[in-house]
Amino acid sequence: MAETGAKGVAPSVPVVRIAHLNEHVGQEVEIQGWLYNKRSSGKIRFLEVRDGTGIVQAVMVRSELPPEVFDLYDTVTQESSLTVQGWVRQESRAPGGYELGLTGLRLIQVAEPYPITPKEHGIEFLMDHRHLWLRSRRQQVIMRVRSEVVKAFRDWLDEHEFVLIDAPILTPNAVEGTTTLFETNYFDTKAYLSQSGQLYMEAAAMAFGKVYCFGPTFRAEKSKTRRHLTEFWMLEPEMAFADLDEDMRVQEELISYVVARVLERFGSLLRDVLERDTIPLENVKPPFPRLAYDDAIKMVQAAGEPLPWGEDLGAPHETLIAEHFDRPVFVHRYPVQAKAFYMKPDPERPEVALCADLLAPEGYGEITGGGQRIDDLQLLEERLQQNGLPKETYKWYLDLRRYGTVPHSGFGVGIERTVAWICGLPHVRETIPFPRLLNRLYP
Ligand code: 4AD
Ligand code: MG
Repeated sequence: MAETGAKGVAPSVPVVRIAHLNEHVGQEVEIQGWLYNKRSSGKIRFLEVRDGTGIVQAVMVRSELPPEVFDLYDTVTQESSLTVQGWVRQESRAPGGYELGLTGLRLIQVAEPYPITPKEHGIEFLMDHRHLWLRSRRQQVIMRVRSEVVKAFRDWLDEHEFVLIDAPILTPNAVEGTTTLFETNYFDTKAYLSQSGQLYMEAAAMAFGKVYCFGPTFRAEKSKTRRHLTEFWMLEPEMAFADLDEDMRVQEELISYVVARVLERFGSLLRDVLERDTIPLENVKPPFPRLAYDDAIKMVQAAGEPLPWGEDLGAPHETLIAEHFDRPVFVHRYPVQAKAFYMKPDPERPEVALCADLLAPEGYGEITGGGQRIDDLQLLEERLQQNGLPKETYKWYLDLRRYGTVPHSGFGVGIERTVAWICGLPHVRETIPFPRLLNRLYP
């Protein structure tokens, strides 16, 4: 904190964030931040300072500074906390287009030798230092895109009269199968960490018509893949009086809006910092193609993959299918046996469900899953029994089919997979601040 601020006295120059330097050209300002890097050339020395909004170079000229200030250059280490004062100048050669002619420098803490250096580090080393790695330029862009993605999703839903209804994390029952449940003690009984807020959203949809929840969800996934986290964030809209077609229409509008908004606000950072080719993202506009599962299977089989009808699609199959399209593609009407208990069978073909997964292009795989829910009491009871799920814990859920049941649909979007796709990242582990994976609970 600035000395003057700490004493409650106004600082002599305004404290400004780096992103706003363009509004202060010709003024003397103070930046509060950390040393990103330093370099010197002859009588001039450069401190690259970051403050979370950007990086600016502060230029130190020997003849213009008291020796004790100029010599601080030798003391200051990477990631030391500091404040710098200086005159703001436009400088096209400087990163960001502006620089500071340094007039003052105060070190708050001289950092110990920083573990993350410009040399290459292995991924496990970086993941062990995730609490520090977040300071890097690349991680800054990814986290800001994540923040924008969440905001864009929520803005669209809020503007379309969806009500945010928070779902509980501690739950008495499974949603997406019992094999990936995290179990915990709940006083003298058992509880499970939520796999999905969907069942609660179905209750809320009968109260409010259009709702969504957004929160962490948990899957005890015993596999190490590029797409699976054990804790991930899911956005789950649910709509009363909506069928599968309406469900897909809402998804294509929503996803297209989110992609367009990130491109508009972060397009150049995606290209410059993450080296993401943004051209394929420009195609993400409705309508998205719709491919029946039957045809998807034929496509997979034609490519030489021996996948029999009835099985769920795996990651390589999804990639293979998505290669045929230039934008996300819905695969709809999966076999009932491959999907969760609540999926409504197609009345015209009861062996398939009125469901759809949205597959992202470029091999990023399934980013949403959803569909129409069973609205008939007796059928839902049968499906619970067939899936070996105890009727007692679903009593409240069955009630929804007793008191004013209506056709209804919804879907879940995985935030991390969406961010991985938009940012062009091969693995979801960099899309969440502190990833939880099969082999990682630290930091
Ligand atoms: O397909 P899923 O399992 O669907 C549901 O949970 C439904 N109850 C949602 C609903 O209809 N309300 O998960 C939905 C999405 C997937 O498409 C994927 O993007 C993401 O959540 N997801 C995961 N992301 C990261 N790690 C995992 N282990 C994930 N499992 C699902
Ligand atoms: Mg799914």
